[in-house]
Amino acid sequence: MRVIAPGRVNLLGEHTDYNGGFVLPCAVNREIRINFEESKEFELYSEIYKDYVKQEDKIEGWKSYILGTKKEISKHYKTREVKGKIRSTIPVGSGMSSSAALEIAVALAIIKNRRAKPMNIAKLCRRAEHRYAGVKCGIMDQASVILSKKNSLFFLDCRELSYSYVPFDGIIVVVDSGTKHELSASYYNRRVSECKRRAKILGTKNLREAWEKRLELGSLDGELKKRAEHFFSEMDRVVEATDALRSEDMHKFGELMNLSHLSLSQKFEVSTPLMDKLQRKLSALCYGAKLTGAGFGGSIVGICEEEDIEKIKEAFEGFQIYFLRSTDGAWFSN
Ligand code: GLA
Repeated sequence: MRVIAPGRVNLLGEHTDYNGGFVLPCAVNREIRINFEESKEFELYSEIYKDYVKQEDKIEGWKSYILGTKKEISKHYKTREVKGKIRSTIPVGSGMSSSAALEIAVALAIIKNRRAKPMNIAKLCRRAEHRYAGVKCGIMDQASVILSKKNSLFFLDCRELSYSYVPFDGIIVVVDSGTKHELSASYYNRRVSECKRRAKILGTKNLREAWEKRLELGSLDGELKKRAEHFFSEMDRVVEATDALRSEDMHKFGELMNLSHLSLSQKFEVSTPLMDKLQRKLSALCYGAKLTGAGFGGSIVGICEEEDIEKIKEAFEGFQIYFLRSTDGAWFSN
């Protein structure tokens, strides 16, 4: 048996998911693959880490994504023990969410019920990440890894958990800055709690509600105001971007990506000088570009045409660079 779970990039709607907002990611053709068989004891070998993970191991490091997921999933579903090998073509720590792909792959391998609801699986995997990896992430990564569709972007309303697909057949370029983000190492969780505080001051349940009510942000002081301004403008951009895609206006879409990066850098403050430099360089060679995922390092994502590929490769010599396509979410086969 085998299960395949792709990585993802996020093209718009950054740091919106844990505020109940909209996101526009897609799965990409880089994947984690687990070949396995049913077994008496749980044992997976990771080709990347050149190590085994077994039931009795401590839940820490990369093993926490596997054992944490197993723990949460088995509280809600009948599971089986499996023995097998994990392979991956998703670069670790570069913003393509190899962790969510690993969680979803493990979940699909061990769940017996093949009709388990994908969004439920995504929620349990997110819970595992909260509890065992210590990252208070939103639902975007896990949901897009399992629910994306080829040749489209995955529009997700993270409050309602409703979604739709927006046609998209562009080439996705990812430039790895080479600086790894350490998500659990505080910055991300700090932003999550900052946003919660902001919503509280505004008297709303979350920033999504504040955006819907178009609340005045005047009552917030400097930093608080900037974070909320990012959220408000990013929500507007996702809405505009889906319209732009539907009318095949890639220039508009690229412009919105550039604006998103500016806001992530100046208002949400999750970029770095190197990421800003790479974004400027990449956006000049394609429709538009922005950091993808949490930030604080990781990758820049852009949208380009076939004829841009060579000049982008030349410009980013020395950097890891990937040309990708949107692809289907995770799947299982006997
Ligand atoms: C990480 C998290 C996601 C999301 C992004 C930022 O990838 O796992 O839930 O919050 O950062 O948009």
